[in-house]
Amino acid sequence: MPSRDNRYKKMIPTFDMSVESFHNASITTRLFNWIRETLPEGSTILELGSGWATGQFAEHYTMFSVEHSAKYLDKYDSTYLHVPLKEHKQMANHVSTKWYDADILKEKLKGVEYDLLLVDGPPQTRSGFYKYMELFDESKIWVFDDMHRGIDRKVVVSVASRLASPYIVYCSDDGKPFAVINDPVLVKE
Ligand SMILES: C[S@@+](CC[C@H](N)C(=O)[O-])C[C@H]1O[C@@H](n2cnc3c(N)ncnc32)[C@H](O)[C@@H]1O
Repeated sequence: MPSRDNRYKKMIPTFDMSVESFHNASITTRLFNWIRETLPEGSTILELGSGWATGQFAEHYTMFSVEHSAKYLDKYDSTYLHVPLKEHKQMANHVSTKWYDADILKEKLKGVEYDLLLVDGPPQTRSGFYKYMELFDESKIWVFDDMHRGIDRKVVVSVASRLASPYIVYCSDDGKPFAVINDPVLVKE
């Protein structure tokens, strides 16, 4: 009988990475590895929330980074889209009321094409993603970090329900689980 830890090695391989380990403000090594395994080299990532991992991805992918904070702009090799936060009306069953200014975001996303969307911002206030999800290309892979947080799990449940789409939650032994909509392992008929 295989041990619990060995059952999914094929699904989530462990890369031999020669980088320093990912810290708390970043995605986990496992999420980084999953994207590296899933997304062909040279593809394009649109991320909400930039940080140390942006620089790691930039070694393999073309990056677009939506960033609300001037402090974290232009740190890595990415096209930064500076979009300040703005209050929005609270949605039923959701808590947070501050997200990227949707009008500015819409303008900045014009002409931006991508293969994978990584939702890792803004910090702790992501109900706006559900409110404004039409701004994003729903045919692409959508990855949501921080599934250990109830408010962020709720966003994924709401988004997947509206898309009538299944999603996968990848649990992690190095910190935070993440969720994926349009995961390529879920082959469409
Ligand atoms: C969860 S972080 C995004 C991290 C990024 N996706 C990564 O994995 O490196 C969300 C927000 O925190 C801010 N941030 C970025 N780097 C940070 C750091 N080292 N410490 C604290 N906050 C940071 C930025 O404003 C960013 O949009």
